[in-house]
Amino acid sequence: MKCFRYFSRIFSWALAVSVCALAVSMEAQNHPALGERPQLGDSVVLQRANSLLRQMTSDEKIGQMSQIFVFGSGLSVEERVRAGQLGSVLFMTEPAQINRLQHAAVDGSRLHIPLLFGLDVIHGFRTVFPVPIGMAASWDPSLVEKAQSIAAEEARSAGVHWTFAPMLDIARDPRWGRIIEGAGEDPYLGSAMAAAQVRGFQGPYLGAPGHIIACAKHFAGYGAAEGGRDYDGSDISDDQLWNVYLPPFKSAIDAGVGTVMSAYMDLNGVPATGNKWLLRDVLRDQLHFKGFVVSDAMAVNSLTTHGFAKDQQDAALRALRAGVNMEMGLGKTAYGTTLAESLKAGKISIKQINDAVRPILEAKIRLGLFEHPYVDEAVAKTTLNDPNHRIEAMHSAEQSAVLLRNQDGLLPLQASRYKSIAVLGPLANSQADTNGSWVFANDFNETATVLDALQRQAGTDTHFEFAQGVQIARKFPSPFDSILKGKKQAPWSESQAAEEFAKAVQTAQHSDLVLMIMGEAQVMSGESASRSSLELPGKQQQLLEAVVATGKPVVLVLLNGRPLDISWAAEHVPSILEAWYPGTRGGDAIVNLLYGKATPGGKLPFTWPRNVGQVPIFYAHNTTHAPEAQDKRYWNEASTPLYPFGFGLSYAAFSFSNLHLSKPEVKSDESLDVSVDVENTSDVPGDEVVQLYLHQQYGSSSRPVRELKGFKRVSLSAHEKQTAHFTLSKSDRTYWTSATRSWVTDASKFDVWVGGDSTAKLHETFSVRP
Ligand code: BGC
Repeated sequence: MKCFRYFSRIFSWALAVSVCALAVSMEAQNHPALGERPQLGDSVVLQRANSLLRQMTSDEKIGQMSQIFVFGSGLSVEERVRAGQLGSVLFMTEPAQINRLQHAAVDGSRLHIPLLFGLDVIHGFRTVFPVPIGMAASWDPSLVEKAQSIAAEEARSAGVHWTFAPMLDIARDPRWGRIIEGAGEDPYLGSAMAAAQVRGFQGPYLGAPGHIIACAKHFAGYGAAEGGRDYDGSDISDDQLWNVYLPPFKSAIDAGVGTVMSAYMDLNGVPATGNKWLLRDVLRDQLHFKGFVVSDAMAVNSLTTHGFAKDQQDAALRALRAGVNMEMGLGKTAYGTTLAESLKAGKISIKQINDAVRPILEAKIRLGLFEHPYVDEAVAKTTLNDPNHRIEAMHSAEQSAVLLRNQDGLLPLQASRYKSIAVLGPLANSQADTNGSWVFANDFNETATVLDALQRQAGTDTHFEFAQGVQIARKFPSPFDSILKGKKQAPWSESQAAEEFAKAVQTAQHSDLVLMIMGEAQVMSGESASRSSLELPGKQQQLLEAVVATGKPVVLVLLNGRPLDISWAAEHVPSILEAWYPGTRGGDAIVNLLYGKATPGGKLPFTWPRNVGQVPIFYAHNTTHAPEAQDKRYWNEASTPLYPFGFGLSYAAFSFSNLHLSKPEVKSDESLDVSVDVENTSDVPGDEVVQLYLHQQYGSSSRPVRELKGFKRVSLSAHEKQTAHFTLSKSDRTYWTSATRSWVTDASKFDVWVGGDSTAKLHETFSVRP
């Protein structure tokens, strides 16, 4: 970088580039440490990008706009990299292989432009953290920021510069498998988690050492797929789009997210990746996004599949015009194959190409890739093996767990009371299922299952006996089966299955207590993992019932990425702990929680339905006719959920009092302060999440019965009381109304509730005058 600055003062850019390119390759041979990399000013970055653009041929520019999947060594694409046909690749994870391909770009291509290496670093790189829905359940943005900064540090040390995260799709239909990848149903919580993740990945500025570029995805509305079926179209009203689906993206953009991914599906009939209104009018003009847009994988080519584009050339043209800067593809991209011809034929201008490429070059410049294209493999090794990262992952898993039921205080377990413990279920000893989806760079051998952790941590006088009991599998295979590593078990024969089931029940019979580790296997949740029911897959429910029938005390630990139909368990199993897919140190975290070395304090980031027939169900619905019968909308089943949004128990107990608003009335643009006392009324320490909900009583639109507008996770020692403070500002009362098709802040009367979940009772009101 120093040499760039020096030469730019004296010589023309052309000379600087060639000399620096030489310097870059010499620097790289010595594997320099990254050191300090101060933030570059916008004008410096722009100037450098423009100077580079002036030297590039149109083919080289088009090359920068293509990204392809590369698995393994990357040898097969080296020629294309040397020829300047690719700007980025994704899915490489090995530092040595990344360095090698980077050499092809830096030493081998005419202008020495480095590649950007991308990967889905969703919940960790080598160290696996809980899946995003679990991290959101911590209701602790600082924890989430820390986790993603560790993921970024590890990824960057290995040579990965760019993550396709965070996923910001609001999901109100748990049939959709990708609910696991987001922060759940709520735009306020989703926005807080969005900003925290961007800060974690990117650090204080784009290009900060040890950090990577984030990518807000999938823009926009992917979570509303019809029927929860992955990739199917979304029909979203403008009211819902502006008030529910877009706020997390706005939050990520305000936090400086460097890239955005255009979604696969049709949004109100127009594919997101060819949707000019969405990608230009909304994303650029209204949300003020300044970085670059990458398509979802193969989404440009699939504009033809949608019956939207005529052919591949038309698809590329329409994606480019809509605002997709880079196409993510496999093999030959539509951009690489057709844009040169479209340019020649005058269907697009070189200005359009320049405008698309410039932010890609700017990102490479900001990241310091021209100065530091390679990674130090020795440093990578140390970073990836940092024991503190594993400890942080364990802490995250403890913080994200949600205690759903705990009859008669069965948990935490008294070690002296239960000397022989049955450990049952298909997920009790599965490393893959402890990690969850989107793990490509981890070492499975490092993952502690619940059984591993029990055996390691327990006192010598406690005996744990494991019996798997059942096997679970998808009816249709997952596209990830071949990509995800980890041990696979051969399917049992019918007689073997019967034997294993009986063995598990017998194990329960001769034990003092039973731990059942159940839920969904790794590939049952995530992309291409939607389902039409929410039941426990396979014969888990039957096993649960048979074990409960033994009369032994049972603790159910769930590993999963979506709410499951556990209505029966919620009545018959004394203790239920939602542990999500908790990651590398997940087993240890669960054991700490079970034995009270850690106390559950997570809260649900979604409304937990009683069964699939209630879907979609979310707390922030509108009040309508006959509200007194709201909980009896079905004649066969209560319309209330099994567990409300924001719900979660603790080993401690809390009470709320002294809800105080600073003013009974404010002007439209004024704020008011809210305070409330929260007290730990128990003898043990614990965390409570203080949640503030708001409701507008009348106005331009009907508004939801309540909406989250503030939260704080507080740690309280036994009998400690604290006062939590919130500010309700104009933006908390501003919403988009279809009455005037614009943003509005109504003069109205408002309800405020504060408490430990979305059914909070402590109530006050205030008025807003015009
Ligand atoms: C997913 C994206 C992901 C991309 C690259 C796509 O199938 O929808 O979320 O980033 O693959 O792995």
